[in-house]
Amino acid sequence: MNNAVAGFSKLTKEEKINWIANEYFSNPIEAIATIKQYWNNDAQLQQLHDEFIENTITNFYLPMGIAPNFLINDRYYSVPMVIEESSVVAAAAKSAKFWSTRGGFKATVLNTEKIGQVHFLFKGDSAKLESFFNTVKSSLIDSTESITKNMQKRGGGILGLELRDKTSALENYFQLHATFETKDSMGANFINSCLEQLAKTLKEEAQNYTDFNETEKNITVVMSILSNYVPNCIVRAEVSCRVEELAEKKIENPQEFAEKFVQAVSIAEIEPFRAVTHNKGIMNGVDAVVLATGNDFRAVEAGVHAYASRNGHYSSLSHAKIENGIFTFWMEIPLALGTVGGLTSLHPLVKMALEILGKPSAKELMQVVAVTGLAQNFAALRSLTTTGIQEGHMKMHLNNILNQFEANPEERKAILKHFEKNTVTHAAVVALIENLRK
Ligand code: MEV
Repeated sequence: MNNAVAGFSKLTKEEKINWIANEYFSNPIEAIATIKQYWNNDAQLQQLHDEFIENTITNFYLPMGIAPNFLINDRYYSVPMVIEESSVVAAAAKSAKFWSTRGGFKATVLNTEKIGQVHFLFKGDSAKLESFFNTVKSSLIDSTESITKNMQKRGGGILGLELRDKTSALENYFQLHATFETKDSMGANFINSCLEQLAKTLKEEAQNYTDFNETEKNITVVMSILSNYVPNCIVRAEVSCRVEELAEKKIENPQEFAEKFVQAVSIAEIEPFRAVTHNKGIMNGVDAVVLATGNDFRAVEAGVHAYASRNGHYSSLSHAKIENGIFTFWMEIPLALGTVGGLTSLHPLVKMALEILGKPSAKELMQVVAVTGLAQNFAALRSLTTTGIQEGHMKMHLNNILNQFEANPEERKAILKHFEKNTVTHAAVVALIENLRK
């Protein structure tokens, strides 16, 4: 039974580590050594990382890889990806190369509107609230001026402000529904600061509104927060070519391949159990670039999956068709991303990732991220509808198994040679290691 701890955050980093090591490990010295093994030798760099969050004890590494040869809107990109799952980067790279000789990817940002809401309770006459809102709307917006000034200079700011009556769903519940343009920043801090100011002004103005009775004057603000659901911040990614151009080593019959591929997408469109896995494959690509560029992958995940359910049932994000001999595969997804602010200028590897991408605008990054998701989806569906996913996946995973068993160089050589011709399964690898070690 472990103990609770009081004032953990007040302990020094050393004290925190000692407490964790003594509390949870039978060999605290070894635990401390492992924790410190992942510290950076450069004290300043380590401090930078320590200060990203609270109670930092060490760094948690994830590999950063590159998927080259992404031809997007006639320009080549090398895409940095941060992900722990083997075969994702290889799949992206393969897909990128495949489409680079078939016209490349086309990507378009359809819109870039972000959303935030002040959720409040109003007990009284909703028609009076409506007139009140119309009277004070411009003062509400004006009150955010000091926050929006700089954003306005960059061409952004508050786009719209609406009063929404939600009382048919929840008693006394109304919203200020605000829309924003945040240019190259993801805009979370900007939006939340605006909303908190709007909420404050809303309460003050209500107190002074002479048409309200005492109850009506007392608006209760429940919370003010951006929405991670951004159905009007959409990017479209697409590939297309003549069906016969799909031919390659593993696609001997392109017509058959294209039809099966479209069928696989149709299944994901109507079957939620498949759609979730299908979309997970898309997010393998999306998240890896979102992470590499220091963006908020939880926000992206939440928003994308909500979008996948927008028609009342969870469905595929991507679509495919064959029309007049042309195979087209595309998707539209919501992405709220930033290339300034947040971690973008703080984390040295995020800075590098953005440099590798040619210091993109937020719109350009939306395109790269969506394309990587589509490429990943193409690679997964190509494997699934032809050889099956395990062939490639287990080949990549073989290394992980060898590491797990701490295989020495000779064992590695023998095992890799054996599996050039045999199917990789976990059991087969283990059996071979055991056999070699007899
Ligand atoms: C594995 O990470 C992702 C896939 O399952 C996606 C899919 O099934 O489409 C291969």
